[in-house]
Amino acid sequence: MIDQLEVIERDARAALQDVRSLDDLAAWRQQWTGKKSALAGLSQQIGKLSAEEKPVFGQRFGALKNGLASAEAELESRLQSESLHRELEEDAVDVTLPGRTVAVGRLHPSTQSLRRIEGIFAEMGFQVWESREVESDEYNFELLNMPAHHPARDMWDTFYVKSDDPEQKVVLRTHTSPGQIHVMRALHPQPIRVILPGKCYRYEPVSARSEMMFHQVEGLVIGHNITMADLKGTLANFARRMFQTDVKARYRPSYFPFTEPSVEMDIECYLCGGEGCRICKYTGWLEILGAGMVHPTVLRNGGYDPAEWSGFAFGMGPERQTMLRYDIDDIRWFFSNDGRFLEQFG
Ligand code: FA5
Repeated sequence: MIDQLEVIERDARAALQDVRSLDDLAAWRQQWTGKKSALAGLSQQIGKLSAEEKPVFGQRFGALKNGLASAEAELESRLQSESLHRELEEDAVDVTLPGRTVAVGRLHPSTQSLRRIEGIFAEMGFQVWESREVESDEYNFELLNMPAHHPARDMWDTFYVKSDDPEQKVVLRTHTSPGQIHVMRALHPQPIRVILPGKCYRYEPVSARSEMMFHQVEGLVIGHNITMADLKGTLANFARRMFQTDVKARYRPSYFPFTEPSVEMDIECYLCGGEGCRICKYTGWLEILGAGMVHPTVLRNGGYDPAEWSGFAFGMGPERQTMLRYDIDDIRWFFSNDGRFLEQFG
């Protein structure tokens, strides 16, 4: 049995050399020193020994058990510290690494432009009104002095919603001008000074300059003795604030059924200073809006007597103005949802 002890000791120590992890060590313990190990089996046979052999065996057994236990404890503590080390290394945070940038959203260029326009008019005492995008034919056309079959309707073709009721013609508004009637009917008989920003829709070919959905900012001023001079002063002030302090403006006669007289406003091309360039198509001027004195029929439709009241109105497109400011060559960039375009507008 003493010989068996020696074999066990040699084999157990050899097996301990191959232990690489705490799991290996647990398996080793089960095999060599645990309750069902060869060593435990040997201790149960101690009764078979003679009285002289017993103390000799007992001493050898005790020495072997203690020797293996201390070798095991030593290895266990080494493996534990190695594993702790490894864990610390793997989980280490390198505080010198640059932080991850958090993606921060930004406002869409059209929204930025709308807010800029709203800010300028708010400082001139204008109220901001939101009007509906889904309109009736009556408000989009008729009340704006465009009865059915009026040829001017062709300039503002739109999307019609099919309805069983022929009286109920529902359309997506082609301009913010129907908001004029809503405001007049809501505020009548008070004087009015509002802008109406919002989306418009047109059934027309999409091109580099024209989208089927875009924004407009409408303006409406109604009061006593409002004249074309008020229109010019207000819009010139707007252009100076929006573009460049010393920008020159000009007004070309135009036609809109809901204003009379009607004008289109151009500003001197601030890119070339009026010399002529690609952006102004070598004319030296950039068109920025349509405007005019509110037509008597429209005043009447809004509840204002044209003998007593007068007013001016204008309508501008913020996308086209943004294109001019940033030299953007195609309006389709605005709503194609391409992050490479949008993230340039911080
Ligand atoms: C109108 O829509 C008139 N309601 C403007 C108006 C209001 C005149 C009040 C008088 C009094 P017009 O169709 O020209 O007019 O459009 C006005 C502006 O909207 C244009 O100058 C342009 O900047 C913008 N716009 C028009 N169509 C498009 C389009 N398809 N895509 C992008 N912007 C457009």
